[in-house]
Amino acid sequence: MKSINFFFVNLVIVLAGFSYSAFGQEKEQTPASDEPAKLQVCSSCHGIDGNKSITPDTPKLGGQAADYLAEALKQYQNGMRNHPIMGAMAAGLTKQDIKELSIYFSGQSSQLSTKY
Ligand code: HEC
Repeated sequence: MKSINFFFVNLVIVLAGFSYSAFGQEKEQTPASDEPAKLQVCSSCHGIDGNKSITPDTPKLGGQAADYLAEALKQYQNGMRNHPIMGAMAAGLTKQDIKELSIYFSGQSSQLSTKY
C-alpha cells in the first residue's frame, strides 16, 4: 500500500512537472541550446542540474559519468532495471535523447560522494 501511495505521489509530481513545462513554453518558445529537449520532465524529480532530488530514493545525476547514465537509461528501457517510474520515463526516450541527457547531466557539478 505504501508503495502504491508513493507511486501516486510521484505521478502527481510528474503531472505538475508537465504543466510547469507547458507554462514555461508560453514565456520562452525555445529552450537554451545546451539543454536537452526532454530535460524539463527529468528535472521535476532530479532537479535542473541533476542535484536536487525530490525524494531520498531519487538519485543525484549531476557529475555522474555519461556512459553510466546512458547505460542506466537503456536498462530501464530493456527491463534489466525494473522500476515503474523510471521504466515509464525511459520508455519515451530516443537514442538521441539518452545521449543528450547523459552528456548534459554528466556536465553538471557533482555532489556525488561515498560514505565509506
Ligand atoms: C517521477 C520522478 C522521476 C522523473 C520524472 C525522472 N526520474 Fe529518473 N529516477 C527517479 C527515481 C525514483 C530513480 C531511482 C530508480 C531506481 O531505484 O532504480 C531514478 C533513477 C534514474 C537514473 C539512474 C541513476 C543511477 O544512479 O543509477 C537515471 C540515469 C535517471 N533516473 C534519469 C532520468 C531522466 C533522464 C529523466 C527524464 C527523462 C528522469 N530520470 C525522470 C525518479 C524520476
